[in-house]
Amino acid sequence: MSLKAPRQAKFKAINKMPLIIDCDPGQDDALMLFMALNAPEFDLRGIVAVAGNVPLAATELNIRILADICNRTDVPLYSGCEKPLQRSLITAEYVHGKTGIDPLEIYQPQVQLQAQHGVDFIIDTLTNAADNEITIVATGPMTNIATVLSRAPQLSVRIKQIVMMGGAMFEGGNVTPSAEFNVYLDPEALDIVLKAGRPIYAFGLDVTHKVMSSPKRVAAIRALDNPVAQAAADMLEFFDRYDSQKYASEGAPLHDPCTVAFLLQPEMFKMKACACQVELNSELTRGHTAVDFWQVTDQPHNIHWAHDVNAEEFFTLLTDRLSDY
Ligand code: BDR
Ligand code: CA
Repeated sequence: MSLKAPRQAKFKAINKMPLIIDCDPGQDDALMLFMALNAPEFDLRGIVAVAGNVPLAATELNIRILADICNRTDVPLYSGCEKPLQRSLITAEYVHGKTGIDPLEIYQPQVQLQAQHGVDFIIDTLTNAADNEITIVATGPMTNIATVLSRAPQLSVRIKQIVMMGGAMFEGGNVTPSAEFNVYLDPEALDIVLKAGRPIYAFGLDVTHKVMSSPKRVAAIRALDNPVAQAAADMLEFFDRYDSQKYASEGAPLHDPCTVAFLLQPEMFKMKACACQVELNSELTRGHTAVDFWQVTDQPHNIHWAHDVNAEEFFTLLTDRLSDY
C-alpha cells in the first residue's frame, strides 16, 4: 500500500502546535489519528504506541497501518511500554476485536517503527523543547507519559498541556461501575500525571458518551470518496456493534477523537477547572476519578474536566476532516 510519496507539503511546520500522540489503537484511537494526521494545525513530532485495548505488539503494528492508510509515512512512529506500571495488562478485544482495528486488513506496511523506545523519544523531544512548548495527546493508559515524568520530572515544564481521554464522574464507569477503561488499566500512571503540575484537559465518559455515532452520521462518512473515510466508516460500523447493545444506543461513543477535536475547535466543549484524584487502593473502585466538580473540597484544581459538547459540531468537524483526504 501507499506507493505514493508521503503527503508532507501541507504539514511543514510554520507556527504549528508541536504535538506528540500517545495511543493504543483501538478504532476510536484510529479515528483520532485520522483527524490528527490530516490537520495542518499540528507539527506532529511522533506517535507512540502503548499497551491497552490490545497488546503492544498489536498497537505498534496498528499505528504503522494507520499512518500508512493516511499516507503520512513521514511521521516518526515509536513503541512504548508493554504493561501498566504496577499491574497486569488487561485488554479489551471484546470491544475492539482481535486486532484492535477490526475489520481493517492487517498487513506489514513499509513504514517501520523507529528503533528508539517511545519513552526515550518523548524525553528527547522535551529536552530539546522550550518551556510550555509540547502538547501531548494521550488516548490510552498513561503508562508512557508517567514513565517520562518519573524518569525526567525536571522536563515536565516543557509540556504545555496534556489532553487526555480518560476517567468518569457523573457517568459512572465502563469497565467497572466506578472506572473508565484507560484509568482502570493504569491508575498509578494517571496519579503521577495528575501530580505533575501541568495543565491537563480531560475527556472522560461524562462527555464522550454525548458524542455518539449513528447510522446517519456513519452514512455521511461512508459517502466520502476516499480510502481513509472508507476505513473510518468500516471501523465505526464494527465498533458500533458492541456499544450499541451495551448502551441501547444507535451507535458508539467516539471517546478518543474528542481530544483532537478539542485542540482544533475548543469552543465546542464545556470545561470546568476541578480537583481530581484517582483511586489506587480499593479493589471495588480502582481507577475511579474523584472529580470535585461542585468544589466541595479545598483541594487545588489540577484538571480541566470536560462535561458537555456540541455533538453536531463534533461530527461536522470529523466528517469535514475526513473529506479532505
Ligand atoms: C477508552 O478505552 C478504550 O476502549 C478506548 O480506546 C478509549 O480510549 C474508553 O474508555
Ligand atoms: Ca484508546
